[in-house]
This record gives sequence, structure tokens and C-alpha cells, in this order.
Amino acid sequence: MKRRGDNKINIAVIGCGEQAVENLLPSLMQIDSASIVALCDIDETKASKAARSFPGARIFRDYNDILLNLNLDAVILVGPPQMHFDAAQLALSNGKHVFVEKPPTVTTNELLQLASLAEENNLITAVGHNMRYATACLEMQKIVSGESFGNLLSMDVRYLAAQPLGTRWGVNSVLRSFLLSHAIHGVDLLISYMGPVSEVYAQAVELKNGATLISTLLRFRSGKIGTLIAGTCAAHFQIDIHLMSDAAKTIHVRNLRRLTTYGAEGDLKRWGRVWEPRPLEGGYARSGYLGELRAFVNAIQIGEQTQPSLKDEIAVYELMDGIESQIRDAQQDVDILHLYSDT
Ligand SMILES: NC(=O)c1ccc[n+]([C@@H]2O[C@H](COP(=O)([O-])OP(=O)(O)OC[C@H]3O[C@@H](n4cnc5c(N)ncnc54)[C@H](O)[C@@H]3O)[C@@H](O)[C@H]2O)c1
Repeated sequence: MKRRGDNKINIAVIGCGEQAVENLLPSLMQIDSASIVALCDIDETKASKAARSFPGARIFRDYNDILLNLNLDAVILVGPPQMHFDAAQLALSNGKHVFVEKPPTVTTNELLQLASLAEENNLITAVGHNMRYATACLEMQKIVSGESFGNLLSMDVRYLAAQPLGTRWGVNSVLRSFLLSHAIHGVDLLISYMGPVSEVYAQAVELKNGATLISTLLRFRSGKIGTLIAGTCAAHFQIDIHLMSDAAKTIHVRNLRRLTTYGAEGDLKRWGRVWEPRPLEGGYARSGYLGELRAFVNAIQIGEQTQPSLKDEIAVYELMDGIESQIRDAQQDVDILHLYSDT
């Protein structure tokens, strides 16, 4: 493990597709203590293109060459979940810290294997749930932890977009693909505030174009309650978060751009305050990509785990499994609703 005071963290990025090039690599460029020493993609043209911004980085097609031969501190995995699982196993077995994009694996069993490998080898891991580090969510976290907010009672998340449609990554189920690819962010946000779930009631509709919409009612082990509505049937990305406390305070975060608190101090009838990101705040900070990577690099430097780790992710997969099995059971009686049907 890197020692306190060591300077740069040597990192290889494996998978140089859209997410790496659009969001993660530009964020890494803003982290002084991160040094990108290798870029890898089975499509070498993508790794070469990405390397234009990192002239010192070596280019690879096969991650085995990186993980077995290079002197590295950490890897960042940004590809399909099957690659995440295989490369993370090798990285963790060879003493590398791992940041992995969501979804880290296809199955819960694979996730459990990775989490225990990380623990056995005492390595830092992080899963790419950038929303937790979005500036609006950090602001929300600050208010929730403040004395005047009281105890959190409920959380409602509405997480909608236009994609992905149908199956992904060779996963043989539209619902599992949707949960792994899309709903996972909303599930993680709920778990991060409310803890693990004890009961779930879930319903879904699947549209003929491959879009999915789920509606879930949740009870957490703590006794708190919540809901998740997630779907890929919206025209564009929308996220709405509502929190409520036992001190009659509520927080509403809309599209990570505007946070309103209701129930001002000493006068419940008055509006609270409105928070918005600073006008010049960069998109990578606002979306949380910069924050999640900074937290990972910092965790390696100080030798303390960051969040969410692969271990933290287990509760996310348990809830996704619960939603999936609820919906499957319901579908034994009621066929999937085909809206927009021609017939
Ligand atoms: N957190 C977020 O907001 C967010 C947003 C978009 C995508 N993602 C995640 O990022 C990951 C990548 O998504 P994307 O949109 O960049 O996909 P993409 O298909 O554009 O990129 C994936 C890249 O991985 C490469 N790859 C596949 N197998 C490989 C292997 N064995 N070795 C090396 N490279 C390999 C592919 O050639 C491709 O260039 C996915 O897991 C996705 O869920 C996260």
C-alpha cells in the first residue's frame, strides 16, 4: 500500500470508450496526484486517441500485460461488466487498488468474490457511483448531517432517462440489463442514505421499444421508508430526490442543479433556502466524476477505504436482486404490459 506522503499514484485506465474519454480521463487530468501511466483498449485506436492527452502513457491492447508486468498502484476499469470482473480479479490478486465503473459485475456472486479478494489483500476499491459526489448531493449530505435537520425518515428517488433500451453486455434479460446499467445509480443513492433494505415491493412495465419503468416501495432495516421510480422511457435525463426528517424538514434536489430546503429554522411555514451550483463550477465537479476519482486517489494516499467500495456495493446488488425477483414473480400472473402495441 502507498505510504502517507508518497507523491503520485500510478494508474492504468482499462477501457477507453465513451465514459473514459468523455468523463473520467478529463477528471483525472485535474487531479495532480494522479499519474496516468498506461491506457488499454482491445481497440488500440481508442487507447491511442485517449493517449493524446497523456503523452507519457503507454498503450496496451491486453490488460494482462499491464496487470502482470507494470509497476502500478491502481487500475480504473471502464468497460463491460464481464471485463470488470476478470480484470478486477487479476488486479486485486496482484496488489492493485481498483476503481471500477458501474456495474462492477453481472451477478451478485461475482461481486461477493471481488469484495472478499479486496478484503483479503487489504486493497482500496471504489465503484463509480458519481452521483454520491455530485456537488448537489454533497450539499444535501451536509444538511442531513447538520443538527437542525433531525433524523432522516424517508427518501424518494426518481431517476429517468431515454436509454439504455433492451439488453446490454450480452445479459440475457432486459430487466437485469436495465437494473445494472441504469437503476443501479438510484439504488446506490437510496442505500447510501438509508442503509440496507429489509422489504421491497416492485412493479415494472416494459415498453415495446425496449424501455423499462419500475416503481418500488422500500422499507429499510432501520425502519425508514422510501421509493424508487426509475425508467428509460423519458425524453432526457431527469433526477429528483426528496428527503424528509422527523423534524418536519424536507430537501428537494432537482436535476443536481437546484436544492431547496423546506421548514426553515423556527418557522415551519416559511420557505428555507435555495442552493444552486456556483455559476463557474465545472461539469465534472457538478456530476461527481471529479469527486469520486479524487476520493479514490486520496484514499490510496492515506491508506483508508473510500465509498462506495466493492463491499458497500453488496447492499446495492441485494436490492437489485430483490426488485428483480419481485417483478419476475409478478410476471408469472400478469404478462408484461406492451404499451404502444400495434395490435
Ligand atoms: N457512471 C456513469 O455515469 C456512467 C456513464 C456511462 C457509462 N458508464 C459505465 O462505463 C462503462 C463503459 O461505458 P462506455 O459508455 O464507455 O462504453 P463503450 O462501449 O463506449 O466503452 C467500453 C470500452 O471498453 C473496451 N473494452 C471492452 N472489453 C475490453 C477488454 N477486455 N480490454 C480492454 N478494453 C476493453 C471497448 O473496446 C470500449 O472501447 C460501462 O460499465 C458503463 O456502465 C458509467
